[in-house]
Amino acid sequence: MKIVALLGSPRPKGNSATLARKFLARAEEQGHKPVVHELGALTYKGCVGCYACKTSREDCILRDDLTQVLADVAAADVLVLATPVYFGDLTSQLKGFIDRTFSYFTPEYRTSPTPSRLKPGKKLVFIQTQGNPDETAFADIFPKYAAFLKRNSFGESHLIRARGVSSPDDVLRHEAYLHQVDEVAKEVFGTTHAVAADPQIKW
Ligand SMILES: Cc1cc2nc3c(=O)[nH]c(=O)nc-3n(C[C@H](O)[C@H](O)[C@H](O)COP(=O)(O)O)c2cc1C
Repeated sequence: MKIVALLGSPRPKGNSATLARKFLARAEEQGHKPVVHELGALTYKGCVGCYACKTSREDCILRDDLTQVLADVAAADVLVLATPVYFGDLTSQLKGFIDRTFSYFTPEYRTSPTPSRLKPGKKLVFIQTQGNPDETAFADIFPKYAAFLKRNSFGESHLIRARGVSSPDDVLRHEAYLHQVDEVAKEVFGTTHAVAADPQIKW
């Protein structure tokens, strides 16, 4: 299983990155070798709206640090997107990537039942951290982006969300948030089943 994680916070050891790394540690325990991109360390543009990916070519015409990221995500079975809430939305680092996923859509994406160039059956794990402790605050972000990514072959999506966290280590003080990581990892990797004692084995 190919797992690709994009860390959208400019803080490489912040709350969202910590949750992502914990999720990726679960993946490694299952024998997977995740690829991680820290978007804050990369240089790239958002979509320039040239429509070359709809007229003359099958990929994004821009050549920058997102070129490899887009290729990795296209080949991924599981995509982990980790972001803090910035002004009620994703960080600009992650939004820049999201806009460039326009290149994954076919020219017929508006009307086609299969609008994506990516192979179907991919999974999304969305990790959101926010200073506001209110559960209803910024609850719109995940469904919005999950819906866009669903059209791009990420049909199954999971949310890990930490509220009321600000300093980089805050998330470590909340057992419930760390527990969410394990629960989602079990759903994505099927580890509940995999680590359960096999009732067939008797001696
Ligand atoms: C520029 C900026 C904008 C922010 N906007 C919001 C916001 O709109 N709502 C919120 O709850 N927290 C907001 N925060 C707080 C972060 O979402 C919060 O500290 C988060 O846990 C940081 O994640 P990180 O440690 O992964 O960087 C903002 C922080 C910054 C630096």
